Amino acid sequence: MTTSAAVTDPYQPRPEHKFSFGLWTIGWQGVDPFGVAVRPPLDPVRAVEKLAELGAWGITFHDDDLIPFGSSENERDKIIAAFKGALSATGLVVPMATTNLFGQPVFKDGALTANDRDIRRYALRKMLRNIDLAAELGASTYVVWGGREGAESAAAKDIRVALDRYKESLDLVCAYIRERGYSMRLALEPKPNEPRGDLLLPTIGHAIAFIGTLEHPEMVGVNPEVGHEQMAGMSMVHGVAQALWQDKLFHIDLNGQNGPRYDQDLRFGNGDVKSAFFLVDLLEHGGYTGPRHFDFKPPRTEDDEGVWVSAAGCMRNYLILAERARAFRADPEVAEAMSASRLGSLAVPTLAPGETLSDLRDEEFDPVEAGQRGLHYERLDQLALEHLFGARG
Ligand code: GCO
Ligand code: MN
Ligand code: MN
Repeated sequence: MTTSAAVTDPYQPRPEHKFSFGLWTIGWQGVDPFGVAVRPPLDPVRAVEKLAELGAWGITFHDDDLIPFGSSENERDKIIAAFKGALSATGLVVPMATTNLFGQPVFKDGALTANDRDIRRYALRKMLRNIDLAAELGASTYVVWGGREGAESAAAKDIRVALDRYKESLDLVCAYIRERGYSMRLALEPKPNEPRGDLLLPTIGHAIAFIGTLEHPEMVGVNPEVGHEQMAGMSMVHGVAQALWQDKLFHIDLNGQNGPRYDQDLRFGNGDVKSAFFLVDLLEHGGYTGPRHFDFKPPRTEDDEGVWVSAAGCMRNYLILAERARAFRADPEVAEAMSASRLGSLAVPTLAPGETLSDLRDEEFDPVEAGQRGLHYERLDQLALEHLFGARG
């Protein structure tokens, strides 16, 4: 990410930062298990205009966010034309799209893994149709979040067979994308639970292992969400690092969460700030070039103005953390502390080129002495915190 010297506010988002938002995020009306809507529906055209005004780069959507379920063909065409008009007027792009396979009663037992075969076939049709629209709008990533692929009882679903069906569908979708010649990849979004008692592909690790069983594993990666990993008590930073290491970080859902509880979808930066700092540091310095996508819910307490304040806060917090991470990496005392903690040594292969295990076997080593060495991680972590707090550089 670059920052032009001409811009006075260093935290002003601009399209080159690649910030994108789901239409369902800023458009969330606040319906939750305990209450009805608190905000009116958001016109997709206004969503595009407002996001562009705030400095975002892209907008993403589920089929039903843009085209309400049950719309006629004529209504559908009109909505798409108006949406395209807003995109070309503002320059906002559609980097990703996805399918709502969880909202309607027909999907109460899941979609691609529903026990009912006719429902699975309908789900696949719904997905393929929106992939065509996504391709038409230029999306290069298609997210697959198995909203209701799961169960409340192990008696109700044979999970091994459900995974057969999941694989079957994703293989068919990949074949379809290839046949149509779309340059599009799938990104599976893990989540441990909610709305089902237990969901399939609950964590980044489960998803990556599953991808290895597919016919075209190179076309499928992950879309990890901060809150989902934290709901499972996992480290988002470690999960994303492994996804990057395996070339599987195709997309990311940034938001905030306070530990293992219901899916909070807080604005990015709220929740575990230290984890957010190290996540931004990883994305900025770990070679990730994809969208910085926000999947959050402006709380029900907010009116229309508050929705946009919340969206702007996501981007601003990312840019502040990116700047803090840069300062951390540029601090000579941090470099010295990293060297005292011997981070560089981990990058040296355990066996040198040409060495064999017998060289290792015969090596002189004093484990008692080695056991007395300190790692000095506390000093390093304190420096990281001081940069995060704004107390240094
Ligand atoms: C959630 C999920 C969803 C998905 C989105 C894409 O918060 O449970 O993140 O928001 O990301 O629906 O299908
Ligand atoms: Mn979520
Ligand atoms: Mn998400």
